[in-house]
Amino acid sequence: MKKYYITTYGCQMNVHESEKLAGMLESMGFLSANSVEEADIVVFNTCAIREGAENRAFGNIGALKPLKKIKKDMIVAVCGCMTQQEEVAKHIYSTFRFVDIVFGTHNLHEFREFLKKREETSKRQLEISHDENSIAEQVPVTRTSGKNAWVNISYGCNNFCSYCIVPYVRGRERSRQKEKILNEISELVKSNKYETITLLGQNVNSYGNDIGNGYGFKELLEDVCEIEGDFKIAFMSSHPKDFSFELIDLIASNDKILKEIHLPCQSGSNEVLKNMNRRYTREKYLSIINEIRRKIPFCRLTSDFIVGFPGETEQDFEDTMNLLKEVKYNSIFAFMYSKRSGTVAEKMENQVPEEIKNERVNKLLALQKQIQEEKLSNGKS
Ligand code: 5AD
Ligand code: SF4
Repeated sequence: MKKYYITTYGCQMNVHESEKLAGMLESMGFLSANSVEEADIVVFNTCAIREGAENRAFGNIGALKPLKKIKKDMIVAVCGCMTQQEEVAKHIYSTFRFVDIVFGTHNLHEFREFLKKREETSKRQLEISHDENSIAEQVPVTRTSGKNAWVNISYGCNNFCSYCIVPYVRGRERSRQKEKILNEISELVKSNKYETITLLGQNVNSYGNDIGNGYGFKELLEDVCEIEGDFKIAFMSSHPKDFSFELIDLIASNDKILKEIHLPCQSGSNEVLKNMNRRYTREKYLSIINEIRRKIPFCRLTSDFIVGFPGETEQDFEDTMNLLKEVKYNSIFAFMYSKRSGTVAEKMENQVPEEIKNERVNKLLALQKQIQEEKLSNGKS
């Protein structure tokens, strides 16, 4: 029996897409391997969100060269957000001559064909599609996230936050048809294997805007809650600019929806938020947080922050520190701004030096640690 090994970088979207890669491989008779050494096919599902993630992938792909020298028949495939960027895909294809297949996010569903072509013709495959309008349904899935099942509700992003590569590598927002989503969830619930269903989108709150029939995220969530069975619902990620008070009421009133909200803030400074093209102010963000606290007192709140965005001053950073003190999140992710090729922020002046970014991220994380310790000692983790 042939075996596969998949290495995944990045977000939950990628984790779920690796479940689809695994599903396609298993439909071809492959079994899951415990290590790269044991595998007949090795897949790297990459992330392009920050330079660090790209460097890790480059390093790990390169490290496979000696093994491929010994195991000549082993197939190596690289896919995901890095390889959706044509120049990166070409770079990988020409630098790592032992890589057999390179494809982008829009070709994920064609993986089996690339594999067959590689086997039949022994030719290396480089396939980057720019057709970002389609949604591939009917892709088999091998779920690997325990009691949690991921369900895509939309793909792509229309927001173009000025630092972010996602709209360029994932394309415009496409919402899945509600029937497809509800059917998938009904089947998952019927299988009795999952306790939580997590709805996935780059911005779940703008679900349905592209379809334009007035059926949005709140309506979808209401319908998911109507599905009979013993299960909980989570969702990610949310965008503050589209997060409505009606949605807060629904989360508060429905027992099936987990009281956990991940609401990326990115910065506490209005000037930085404007330059990031986030389209909300600190005040608007805090008004959503206050409404959540008022309606759902025990809601677990988490967020993402970027420090060292171009032009971020000491005062801007202090505004972020103060926001953390005010909100008292249960936990946060804090990232040093990473310049991404092709984004608006790449060309901005006043890029912040690495040492300062490093200092700020450590300060922010230390503050959050202190807040969490205080919450813990007050019994409010
Ligand atoms: N640099 C640093 N962090 C980034 N993120 C997105 N793009 C960048 C970038 N260029 C962070 C944001 C987002 C999370 C998934 O990754 O905080 O919410
Ligand atoms: Fe990136 Fe902004 Fe879209 Fe999130 S909402 S994926 S940060 S562009």
